Amino acid sequence: MTEMVLFNPFMPGFTDDPYPHYRELRDTAPVHEHPLGFWFLSRHDEVADLLRAGLSVEQRHLAPHPVRDQIRAASGDKHLRSGGLSMLDRDPPDHTRLRKLVTKVFTPRAIGALKPRIQQLVDESLDRLDGGGDLVAELAFPLPFAVINEMLGMQLADADRLRELTGTLVRSLEPIADPALAEQIMRADLELAELCRAAIAAKRADPADDLLTALIRAEEDGDVLDDEELVAQVILLYVAGHETTVNLISNGVVALLGHPEQHAALRAEPGLIGNAVEEFLRYDSPVQSGRRVTTEPITAGGQEIPAGSFVILGQASANRDERFWGPDADQLRLDRRDARLHVSFGAGPHHCLGAALARMEGQLAIGGLVARYPKLALAGEVEWNGRINLRGASKVPISV
Ligand code: HEM
Repeated sequence: MTEMVLFNPFMPGFTDDPYPHYRELRDTAPVHEHPLGFWFLSRHDEVADLLRAGLSVEQRHLAPHPVRDQIRAASGDKHLRSGGLSMLDRDPPDHTRLRKLVTKVFTPRAIGALKPRIQQLVDESLDRLDGGGDLVAELAFPLPFAVINEMLGMQLADADRLRELTGTLVRSLEPIADPALAEQIMRADLELAELCRAAIAAKRADPADDLLTALIRAEEDGDVLDDEELVAQVILLYVAGHETTVNLISNGVVALLGHPEQHAALRAEPGLIGNAVEEFLRYDSPVQSGRRVTTEPITAGGQEIPAGSFVILGQASANRDERFWGPDADQLRLDRRDARLHVSFGAGPHHCLGAALARMEGQLAIGGLVARYPKLALAGEVEWNGRINLRGASKVPISV
C-alpha cells in the first residue's frame, strides 16, 4: 500500500517544481486533512466541483482550530488588508452586488479596445529584447502592469511606488510565516488605499474616458460603489491583474523553450497561439490554489469535511490530474483539444473577471515573441520566485 504523504509546500525544492508532490497527494491523499488545520484537495473533479459549489470565501466562518489559530497569531496575520471589501473576499449578497458593478465597466468591448495599445507595448518590449536579455524584466513583468495602470487611468506621479506596493500586497495571497512581512503588507495596504483615494478624488474633479471614471459612475438600480468599496476594487484589479499575468507569460515561455518540438510547431503555425495559451495556463498555473471556507458539512471525494473548515483547492494539481486529462497530463501539448477545461481562472461565482484580458496579453506577448525571434532560446538558468501560490519564474535569460 502506498504511504500517505503530508502536504508540505515549505519543503526544499517545492517552489521550483511542486508537480511531483501534487502527484503524490493525488495518489495517496486526494482529500487531505492537514494537522495544521486546513484541507488540501488535489484532484480535478473535486477542485472543479467545489469551485462551482459557491462555498464561502469569508474567513469569519472558520471554526476555531488550536494549531492553526496559534500559527496565525504568531505570524502576525491580522487580516487587515483592503481585501476585506473586495469582491474576492465577499460572499453574496455583497459579492453579487460588487461584481455586477465592476462587470458593467470591465466589458469585453472595453477589453477588446485595448488590443492595439497592448500590441504596441509588446512591440516596445520586443525591441528591448533585441540582442537577448531577461524576459521577465523586459516583457512579462512590465506589460501587465502598464496595461491595468493605463486602463484605470490613475495618472499617478509615482507609478514605480505603486508597483512596489502592489508587489508587497500580492504576498497576502501566500501563506505568511513572517510577522515582519505581515506588518509590511499591512503598511503597503494603507499606503495603497491612500494613493487610490487621492486618484479617485482627482478623477471626480477631472473625469476622463477610463476605467476609474467608469467605476466611479457605475450604477445598477440606483446602487453605486462607495469610496472605500471603490478603493478595494481598484486595489484588487491591480493585485489580481498583475503578477498572475506575469506568471502566465514567463512560465509559458519557460515551458515552451523546454519543449523544442512544441516551439517548432508554434513557429510553423502561429494560429495555434490561442490554444497554446490555454495549455500554458494548464501546464503551469499562474495561481496554484484557491481558498474557501465551509459553512456546513460537505462531502468531497467520498469524504466528509465539517463546517467551519479552511479548504485549499489545488488548481495547479487539478490541471495535471491524469484521471481527468489522461496519461499525457504531464506533457505540454499545444494542440491539446480540451486544454480550456483547466481551472487556472477558477470557476463558479468568483471565476476570474480578467480572463479575457489575461488571454489577450498572453497571446500577444508569447505569440509576438515567437514570431519575431525564430532563434529564441534559453540562455541561462531560470530562477523561480519562491512563492507557493503565485508561483512563477522571476528570471528567464533568453537569446534571440
Ligand atoms: C479572480 C486567476 C488575470 C481580475 C481570479 C481567480 C483566479 C484568477 C483563480 C478566482 C479566485 C477565487 O476563486 O478565489 C487569474 C489568472 C490570471 C488573472 C491565472 C492571469 C493569467 C486577471 C486580470 C484581471 C483579473 C488581468 C484584471 C485586471 C480578477 C478579479 C477577480 C479575479 C477582479 C475576482 C473575481 C471575483 O471574486 O468574483 N483570477 N487572474 N485577473 N481576477 Fe483573475
